[in-house]
Amino acid sequence: MRVTTRLVVSIVFAAALVSAGWTFFQARGERVHLLEELNHRGALLADSLREAAEPLAKRADAKALTRIADKFGGRRRLRGISLHSPDGKTLVATAGLPDSTPPPRPGETMDCGLIPGGALHRCAAALENSPGFLSVFQDATHVEAGVREVWRRGFFRLLTQVLLITAITLWIVRFDILAPIERTAEWMRQQRAGEGQGAALPPGGLLGPLASEAAGLAKSLETARAAAEAEARLRHSGQSIWTPDRLKEHAKDRLAGKPMVVVANREPYMHVKRDGTVKVVRPASGLVSGVEPILKACGGTWVAHGAGDADRETVDAADRVRVPPEEPRYSLRRVWLSKEQEDGYYYGFANEGLWPLCHIAHARPQFRAEDWKQYHAVNRLFADAVLSEIDGVDQPCVLIQDYHFALLPRMIKEARPDARVSLFWHIPWPNPEAFGICPWQREIIDGMLGADVLGFHIQYHCNNFLETVDRALECRIDWERFAVRRGEHSTLVKPYPISVAMEEDAGPLPSKDELMKSVGAKGTILALGVDRLDYTKGIIERFLAVERFLEANPAYLGRFVFVELGAPSRTTIPRYRELVEEVKMEAERINARFVSKEHKDWKPIVLAVAHHERNEVARWYRVADICAVTSLHDGMNLVAKEYVAADREEPGALILSRFTGASRELRDALIVNPYDVERVADALREAVEMEPEERRRRWESMREGIRENNIYRWGARLVDDLARVRLDGKPA
Ligand code: G6P
Repeated sequence: MRVTTRLVVSIVFAAALVSAGWTFFQARGERVHLLEELNHRGALLADSLREAAEPLAKRADAKALTRIADKFGGRRRLRGISLHSPDGKTLVATAGLPDSTPPPRPGETMDCGLIPGGALHRCAAALENSPGFLSVFQDATHVEAGVREVWRRGFFRLLTQVLLITAITLWIVRFDILAPIERTAEWMRQQRAGEGQGAALPPGGLLGPLASEAAGLAKSLETARAAAEAEARLRHSGQSIWTPDRLKEHAKDRLAGKPMVVVANREPYMHVKRDGTVKVVRPASGLVSGVEPILKACGGTWVAHGAGDADRETVDAADRVRVPPEEPRYSLRRVWLSKEQEDGYYYGFANEGLWPLCHIAHARPQFRAEDWKQYHAVNRLFADAVLSEIDGVDQPCVLIQDYHFALLPRMIKEARPDARVSLFWHIPWPNPEAFGICPWQREIIDGMLGADVLGFHIQYHCNNFLETVDRALECRIDWERFAVRRGEHSTLVKPYPISVAMEEDAGPLPSKDELMKSVGAKGTILALGVDRLDYTKGIIERFLAVERFLEANPAYLGRFVFVELGAPSRTTIPRYRELVEEVKMEAERINARFVSKEHKDWKPIVLAVAHHERNEVARWYRVADICAVTSLHDGMNLVAKEYVAADREEPGALILSRFTGASRELRDALIVNPYDVERVADALREAVEMEPEERRRRWESMREGIRENNIYRWGARLVDDLARVRLDGKPA
């Protein structure tokens, strides 16, 4: 039986059952009611006739009795009266009555009830002055007729209900269940067959929740299909472009399925309370954009400082939460720090000590013994967290990130000599003289050399590091293999230029006008800057160049606009707070200088100081005509690469500081010295006026570079070298 028939039959059966039960009780009630009425009327009649009729018993005067009966005959249902001896024999009776009738029940002076057969009702009343009794007969045929009527009405009501229920059920099943199922099934069939890709899922109605799950499945299927096709294309063309799937397979193969543990101070997802609800925030950090694709591809655990104010509410008993929230692929293990620890380790030693020490940006490093103590203690705290994550795993892989954890490699390696440990230093490494001012340089270098593989973005930083080691420690440096040997352990020191993933099929291009309107920018040529508000980023130098460009090229007044998306960063540190003010003041000064009646509402610099979500920044990359990266010193700078990797319709133009790691690869950018305001202003003009062909040539060449040296390749190279590490300490 089809589901619909079963559904209709069940509903009809249930309705019939309920209706029959209901009618049964109604009929019973009707019967009781009519009988009570007859009893009542019969008793009244018998009572009132008794006195008048009693003398007639002795005389057996049937005529007189009939007269009395006729007098009451007006009463609708009266059928006759009879008088009886005590044993029930009829003494006198009106015509048409039964021959005999039983006396009232013993002890009763009035006894009413239906006579078997149901057509007559009798009330018997004992006579008062002589033995015997009087019977009053009434017509009772209407009792059964009334009951039958109730059943008849019940039947028709049921019939109407059944028809209505069936019609409504069929309607709902047809239009609200079967139709969406058919539409969804057809849509799924199309997806499976690879037709109508990107077609929106039809509205789900009742099946809404199921439909959105199906949409997720279809998306995964589409991604998997695209990956498989890309792989096939690559195999066919003999190229070797790295994809997430390729990295995944590669890592599985090289690490023999060992879980990967990444340690980085900054967590990739922060839970914060906003307007009474918990929101997920993606921090603005090059490190996060660089490292996450690897964990997404390979799975594993990311150990980080839980810095969000709702972080504790969202972890399980082991301080873990699965991420990304929308499609969990790996675990985030949070480590909790007290305010003193965070102040000393993160703000103090890492960001007021090591950060300015490694970046040549003319900010004086601050070295405080208390900060160093906390730095040491927090490295130990993270070491304990990592050791608990790799407990029981033979030869685990630990990928440590950045200058927050210089001491961690040694701590882990001492406890777990079988672990394969890498440390990637995301910021520059200065020359030995510059680094030598750090009072704890030996401890730092010693901690770092606990790693089996030590990575920097570029060879120049590796060389600086090896020279620093050479001056600071007793050890053997193998300049041919770029390895440092101390006792039984050797550390490979290599450049791994970090990168990004190419943005594929990002959907329809956003509207440049609308984006500009959203920040109050006006003009036709859009230049973009995206930074954490950090003194190493050369933001003020960039603004000065915009000023100079407009001064030298007034034709662009009203047409050229520079939008700076600046994310406040490390604002607990005074220098960073001052910087935000300086940047704002500089933008205001320059804007005020170019105010004119001719270009109403236009200003050359639009500064949007806020945390900008990644997808929002991605939209700007897709429409900006120019992107300017003018860092005074930068390990790599992923903004430059993200801009080039964006899914755009037209080629863009990139202005790039020669003091970034990225400038070693993106040689077709307009390379500038950010301190040279004239040169950056010239580069702006060049970018604006570049011939379309030249623009396209440079653009394609930069994209080609990133396509080949993407983030998956970075991960694969690191994994390769880690897998090659010989745990007996011999060179690989
Ligand atoms: C930049 C650097 C990274 C560093 C990060 C820290 O992205 O390139 O090496 O880890 O800043 O930023 P944060 O906001 O976590 O202090």
